[in-house]
Amino acid sequence: MPGADPRRWSFDGVHGVILVAAVAVLFVVAPGGHWAPAWQVAALLGAACFATAVRFEVGAGWSSPMQIAQVPLWLAVPPAWFPVFVAISLVVGQAIEWARAGHGRPTVAVLYAADDLWHAIGAAVVLALVGPLTATMGDFPWVLLVFAGQVLFDAVYTLAHGRFAWDDRLRRTDLLKASASTAAVDLALLPVGFLVAYAFATEPLLALSLVPLIGLFAVFAREREERMSKASELSSAYRGTAQLMATMLKADDSYTGGEHTTGVVEMALALGRELALPDDQLRSLEFGAMLHDIGKLHVPNEILNKPGKLTDEEWAIIREHPALGQQMLDTVGGALSETGHIVRAHHERYDGTGYPDGLRGEAIPLESRIITVCDSFSAMTTDRPYRGAMSAQEAAAELDRCCGTQFDPVVVAAMHRVLAGRGQILTVSHPRPAASRTGGRLVA
Ligand SMILES: [Fe+2]
Ligand SMILES: [Fe+2]
Repeated sequence: MPGADPRRWSFDGVHGVILVAAVAVLFVVAPGGHWAPAWQVAALLGAACFATAVRFEVGAGWSSPMQIAQVPLWLAVPPAWFPVFVAISLVVGQAIEWARAGHGRPTVAVLYAADDLWHAIGAAVVLALVGPLTATMGDFPWVLLVFAGQVLFDAVYTLAHGRFAWDDRLRRTDLLKASASTAAVDLALLPVGFLVAYAFATEPLLALSLVPLIGLFAVFAREREERMSKASELSSAYRGTAQLMATMLKADDSYTGGEHTTGVVEMALALGRELALPDDQLRSLEFGAMLHDIGKLHVPNEILNKPGKLTDEEWAIIREHPALGQQMLDTVGGALSETGHIVRAHHERYDGTGYPDGLRGEAIPLESRIITVCDSFSAMTTDRPYRGAMSAQEAAAELDRCCGTQFDPVVVAAMHRVLAGRGQILTVSHPRPAASRTGGRLVA
């Protein structure tokens, strides 16, 4: 569907003209071809319309069982006509989907569904080159070649569409992954489509068995959609709970729950992206950073904000906050229970001398190792009642000093790259694991 973005509009306009021109060229270059009996073509068109209305998300993209109807259509109509039939099925399928989603009567906007036509043009180009195909095993390799044309054109279109019409920042690999997951589903359905074509050539009525099959896909797709929307509701409930807890912490202690936590979340996510963490790990990292000090709700404010030196007893109380935080998150359960492990380990040290469990190196969750670095950096670069804020350059040097003892060298190196990229530090040093160095201790 077109958005308000003028760039998107201009892409759609130019793209529409190129699409029509490509189909027109096909009609000029390959005007004729084999037609199956009219009732078969009509039945296949009906099945294709039905199939395109069934959509399910696969990987980063979406797919539909339309390949089951498309393969017999390759053999039933001349190459130049094939994209026309696919365009009709895309538009009708979109109109069905539109009505089903409760948008009311379909508008002219459903015509935009036809902009996803390049895969059909790719198949038609190969069909025009290899000549009419029959549903025999001898022609199956050619059918695979037609499929290759479909996948190639779809990948090129997905790249161009993603970059020009949507967002320059979309990564090429992500776009290709979306295209590949769609191609994998289509490849799995290709033999079924070929069987339907074979049935049309031998026992045509048997071919109608594809209709209940597509119906089954429709039921599964609907159920999957409902499950995914429930999962997303649950995930927003977790997010809401995490934010509520963070707000409670802010009300209790404006430093810990406010500027400090916001800074740690922002920097932890920047480091997570720098280290190319997958989306689900980034979410755990975000929740962990947001709630890392939630256990401080149990620590009296007189201790938290005490300007002078803390007694051993007071230190002992403060050192309970990671485990107490985990207990609080365990009572919420689900995704926040997983966050509890990250929270528990945010005062562990890379050399194994941290608390509460004395975990060492890789045994400390990566999210916790990232939060530790961001936590210390935030503490050092913020004004506190008992000392002024350090500059980013000074704080980065301090991270270096404790690299390999308190901090994971990989995370410290990522921190240097992020800070240098933001112009917050001038030089990027390359901290080495300092097994033999005696690092200082930073308390956040
Ligand atoms: Fe903490
Ligand atoms: Fe903290």
